[in-house]
Amino acid sequence: MTKIEFTRRRKRLMQAMGRDSIAIVSASPVRQRNRDVEYPYRPDSDFYYLTGFPEQEAVAVLVPGRDHGEYLLFCRENDPQMETWNGRRAGLEGAMERYGADDAFPISDIDEILPGLLENRERVYYAMGCNTDFDRQVMEWINLLRKKSRAGVHTPGEFIALDHLLHDMRLYKSATEVKTMRKAAQIASMAHQRAMRVCQPGMMEYQLEAEILHESMLHGARFQAYPSIVGSGANGCILHYTENESPLKEGELVLIDAGCEYECYASDITRTFPVGGTFSKAQRALYEVVLEANYAAIEQVVPGNHWNQPHEAALKVLTRGLVRLGLLKGRVDTLIKNEAYRPFFMHRTGHWLGMDVHDVGDYKVGEEWRVLEPGMVLTIEPGLYLTPAKGIAKKWWNIGIRIEDDVLVTKEGCEVLSREVPKEPDEIEALMAGRSLRKKRAIRE
Ligand code: GLY
Ligand code: MN
Ligand code: MN
Repeated sequence: MTKIEFTRRRKRLMQAMGRDSIAIVSASPVRQRNRDVEYPYRPDSDFYYLTGFPEQEAVAVLVPGRDHGEYLLFCRENDPQMETWNGRRAGLEGAMERYGADDAFPISDIDEILPGLLENRERVYYAMGCNTDFDRQVMEWINLLRKKSRAGVHTPGEFIALDHLLHDMRLYKSATEVKTMRKAAQIASMAHQRAMRVCQPGMMEYQLEAEILHESMLHGARFQAYPSIVGSGANGCILHYTENESPLKEGELVLIDAGCEYECYASDITRTFPVGGTFSKAQRALYEVVLEANYAAIEQVVPGNHWNQPHEAALKVLTRGLVRLGLLKGRVDTLIKNEAYRPFFMHRTGHWLGMDVHDVGDYKVGEEWRVLEPGMVLTIEPGLYLTPAKGIAKKWWNIGIRIEDDVLVTKEGCEVLSREVPKEPDEIEALMAGRSLRKKRAIRE
């Protein structure tokens, strides 16, 4: 992502905020994993969206219309000794030269400088309630100003959650963001195909996870957007299963929900395939219902449709399929109204996707579902999960299927960013057979 992209975002935000306001955006705190070990640092999405600044201990301040610079960055100073131990820092000069700050100050000086920046501003935009330490810090700055009221210092009177403006901006992806998300989806697609190619009975779920991580990292995606779900058999029916430590058994399906993060943008893909390379009759019958629901929902991803239309289309196909297979009885409309599908499909058909896997952006405007517009990216992820239960024929037990794609709304309709991973059952079987043929040949040679 270029410097210009970040400048453009800050300008747009400042325009929406108005001249008598100020925005304060903090980097994420560092989190301890265990003694002397920190969790890998991931910048806060809002902070990174506006700055592109990857370091911890930083605060960005936007002051629209300020004569001596509108974008100020508080960050760590250069320190050869600390940098020898813990890695390079941009320093104050780097913050200005490389990251476009109009001015940069040591983070250690923030308490002295920030109250002055708040003076004579009416509205303060910040992510209230997200970080209690930061909330307290902002209130301390405000209280300092209040004490000076007799000297004629004006304290801001309005505190506004930054989310409303910023998260609406993040919902519409620019051409550069789309390019990055396409890449995130392409890398995850290669990872899923690799898992399909190497899968065989007797392997452990975590070994498939290892293939996913390996392929993603090979292509520059150092982190996953969320912990990978590799659930075989009954584990495929646990929506957020992450133990990934069961053996893969012949005759079972394996559900992989995995997406990488590339330059802070997420992909989120699920595929379900037979461990042994061939779907059983019952597995294929259920799989085809979910696949039809996936296609029907994607068909509804067009500008002008509202957020819930893909979900409604998926529900219709899934419920109709459950009736056809004898798993539900009654009229499809009534079953949908009564949510009779819920024991088999208990989540929604998708969510916004962006820097966060469950990305920001409102799903409703007032009482109405949001209308889809070009630049929005969402997932389409219908599923069916058949846990052992009274009245359910045994042949369906422990089949968990989800097929999840990442979809960009375009001017004409949509683009499926994850289209490179096969989802037709014949295609999956062919890909897996190709693997075993190659392998057999290698053994013969
Ligand atoms: N991987 C989380 C989800 O599909 O929403
Ligand atoms: Mn998802
Ligand atoms: Mn997912």
